[in-house]
Amino acid sequence: MQQSRDGFSSRFGVIAAAAGSAIGLGNIWRFPYVLGENGGGAFFLVYMGFIFLLGIPLMLTEMSVGRAGQKNPYGTFRVLAPKTKWYLVGVMGVAAAFLILSFYSAVAGWTLHYLSDAVMDNFSGKSSAELKGMYDSFTSSAVAPSVWTLVFLFLTGLVVVSGVEKGIEKYSKILMPLLFVIIVILDIRSVTLDGAEEGLKFLFHPDFSKLDSKAVLEALGQAFFSLSLGMGTMITYGSYIGKKENLLSSATSVSLADTLIAVLAGVAIFPAVFAFGISPDSGPGLVFITLPNVFLQMPGGYFFSVLFFLLLVIAALTSSISLLEVVVSYFTEELKLSRKTATAIAFVSVGVFGVLSSLSSGPLKEFTVLDKTIFNLFDFISSNILLPLAGLFIVLFAGWKWSRKSIATEILGEGKQETTLFKVFMFIIKFIAPFAIALVFIHAVGLIDI
Ligand code: PHE
Repeated sequence: MQQSRDGFSSRFGVIAAAAGSAIGLGNIWRFPYVLGENGGGAFFLVYMGFIFLLGIPLMLTEMSVGRAGQKNPYGTFRVLAPKTKWYLVGVMGVAAAFLILSFYSAVAGWTLHYLSDAVMDNFSGKSSAELKGMYDSFTSSAVAPSVWTLVFLFLTGLVVVSGVEKGIEKYSKILMPLLFVIIVILDIRSVTLDGAEEGLKFLFHPDFSKLDSKAVLEALGQAFFSLSLGMGTMITYGSYIGKKENLLSSATSVSLADTLIAVLAGVAIFPAVFAFGISPDSGPGLVFITLPNVFLQMPGGYFFSVLFFLLLVIAALTSSISLLEVVVSYFTEELKLSRKTATAIAFVSVGVFGVLSSLSSGPLKEFTVLDKTIFNLFDFISSNILLPLAGLFIVLFAGWKWSRKSIATEILGEGKQETTLFKVFMFIIKFIAPFAIALVFIHAVGLIDI
């Protein structure tokens, strides 16, 4: 008898874990500033369109592939398409997860540092120039960001080493409701500030004149990143979902929860930013420079700043768990390592790359490859190349190589008639998704100056 595989034990566990993966720095740190830079409401509408048209179908596909294969991304393709080269798609997924985890934990390390600053009330009495100075001097130093990166990775490892049900599921079931409560409290604070309407208008009033083709592609890339697609995460988590779960409803709930949190993050941030007359388009520094400034001016700012950075840490942690799990599941299943050894090896190897990423805002700033710092290079290779490429091959696999019957069995159940919705889904997977993803990819490659 085969030993039964570790997996999620309940429907809520599936959704909490997968939503935990999806909801991350992408929603709370990246979405608001990308939206700020791309003109606000119109960008948001396009983003929503992509979530429905492509995001949900692709998440459903990944979960189906994973559940059918019952393995890590590499092993899954070996099972579903033996004696072919499709396993390379899984290899790409594992590599992307590894690289993303490296630079993701660098930024996540900053969130831990900011949480400790918030708790110790280090922002108080600072001018906005001093807050910017704090950000610059912290991110450009060598030791502190590296240490925080490793502390963050270590926490991630602690959860993953405990297993799928007893680690990932257990902590997601606690942390995700907590995250939701925190963000709602912050939203209430933000929209009740004087002058909050301007921020809401910025977020929800679409100004299409600001929308260019770059913004549209940016929206698609953001949708994929935010839903954790194209890097084997949802394949891995799909392999832990019980056969009785309805994948369409899981994929839809997770995608909607992810979008809801991105909106709630925007609502927590923009009304407050506008209420204090600060510019919304300050890029990656938005949450680290602009927000402490906002908190300082707000009644109850100490409390809200602690909550906000706690929110960021939780969001980052449940996402990095899913990235580490991709790597660890590959090590345990393919290299036959114990979970403990696999996690330790992953911690050390990702740690090296994570520290390199974190140093690239400081001592390694001048060290560039293809004109990019290490951090930007990892971000670029994973988000703009591996992720769309793996996403493209996953839909091509499901649309053209895998049998329609197998995918119908995962989505509809054994021997069920195809529904109209399923036919629409197959059409998207076969024709629309490959085309749209290829477009993003070509655009990304066009950005490399050779
Ligand atoms: N979706 C996560 C976020 O929005 C990032 C992530 C990408 C996590 C890929 C796992 C896999 O922050």
